[in-house]
Amino acid sequence: MTNSPTPPYEPRNVQGMILRGYTHRYSCHMLFTFADRKGATDFIRALLPYVQSAEAWSNKPERMLNIGLTFDGVLTFEPGFKSQFPTEFEAGPWSADSQQSLHDTGPSDPKVWWNATKQAVHCIVHVYGLTAEALGSLVTTVSQAAGTNRVSEILPLKPERGQSGRLEEYAPLENYIHFGYKDGIDNPGLAWPADPAVPTNPVKSDPGDANNFLVGYPGSTFQPGPETGRAGRFAKDGCYNAFRVLYQDVRAFDQFLADTAPMVVAAIGGSEDHAREWLAAKLVGRWRNGSPLVLSPDAPDQATSDKTDFLYKRDDGNALRCPFSAHSRVSNPRDETMLPTGTPVPRLIRRGVPYGAPPVPPDYDGERGLIGIFLCGALAAQFEKLYSWINVNDFSNAYSPGFNTQDALLANRGAAGDRSFTIAMPIGNPIRILSLPQFIVTRGTAYCLLPSMETLRGIAGLLE
Ligand code: HEM
Repeated sequence: MTNSPTPPYEPRNVQGMILRGYTHRYSCHMLFTFADRKGATDFIRALLPYVQSAEAWSNKPERMLNIGLTFDGVLTFEPGFKSQFPTEFEAGPWSADSQQSLHDTGPSDPKVWWNATKQAVHCIVHVYGLTAEALGSLVTTVSQAAGTNRVSEILPLKPERGQSGRLEEYAPLENYIHFGYKDGIDNPGLAWPADPAVPTNPVKSDPGDANNFLVGYPGSTFQPGPETGRAGRFAKDGCYNAFRVLYQDVRAFDQFLADTAPMVVAAIGGSEDHAREWLAAKLVGRWRNGSPLVLSPDAPDQATSDKTDFLYKRDDGNALRCPFSAHSRVSNPRDETMLPTGTPVPRLIRRGVPYGAPPVPPDYDGERGLIGIFLCGALAAQFEKLYSWINVNDFSNAYSPGFNTQDALLANRGAAGDRSFTIAMPIGNPIRILSLPQFIVTRGTAYCLLPSMETLRGIAGLLE
């Protein structure tokens, strides 16, 4: 596909975290409830000088922030917008429709999200700093602006073990997340399609162009909205954020690797240590250093640790390298034959970071996980569609011939999927793990719009 060198959007009108992967080491993601429109307006106005756009910077800002609004937050400023935004954004991730894809049951039940708070989330402020001090000073500024404008902060985590209850990035885990993997390797390219009539490369099947993420442009595969009227102008150049906080049960994960290692040793030989690493790679489709199994099937290799240029059906059609249900292969099945044929792969921009200190075994207590930031132009057709595939791999016959397997790492095991995990072997029988444990618990989810810079200025009362 050819791409236009000059996309029609202005980076300076788009919030920075959408188009750029920040490398600031410190971040804090603060949740708020508004009391009234006046206070909310003054709060946003106080934060505006710190909001970072996607425009190129000559010097990296020491501290900066981005702002997201839930639909209830949008209504605080624009009560007339009811029924003008996509249903899933208006209804929220706890709605019955969204839950059909997300399957948050048991300890992940929406009733206990955000530390069982009863307050609605209206606004999320994503604060970034180059140093802990820079972050701390901007968090204080945000907190004071909230205090003077009747905006209440929600502490989404139980304040325990010296933690504040806020969602603070665990900075020492640079580029790594809990469970020990390198993260953030593969993200959509965000090019601009020159001609929406030209079909996406059929082999790559990767609708990762910027118009699938920025609201208000024609030719999107996933039809984001709204695109017309006042609501359309409000949403234009914005992007939706499925903000999802996921607790990671490192004890369950390590225990699973240890318990299953003897079975793996019986099949492939070697030590139990090696078997644990091999199994960890099979669960994700990449070794913990990032090397994709399709390119480095036998061992991690520094030379492939950032590689994204491989396909599954073409390069590993029988899943002898990367199991079908490995997390990466489910989250981006690339060239697999889809059901029905031609179904586009829903892409997401991932900007998540880890929170909470890693455990020091045998002490696994403490709160830790992923502050998940999943950006898209259409929450239902991208985020929720992908989540439904994670819970039940029913998007391709290759994945589920006769049964409905689940994403090996992530799925909610309470969903109607098959908990087993099959690792195909070049010689002999496949390794079949009958019942994968639950590794992840949802702590909360909020659907936000990251509005354009102009919309933020408008709601702050700074535009005529
Ligand atoms: C705590 C939860 C999660 C963990 C530990 C996790 C871990 C990982 C790891 C290790 C990778 C491979 C490295 C990379 O490509 O950057 C990856 C890739 C990916 N994950 Fe997750 N992930 C989690 C949640 C999610 C969720 C909730 C989604 C979707 C809703 C998701 C979507 C993806 C996508 C799209 C990729 C890239 C696949 C590719 O393009 O090859 N992940 N994840």
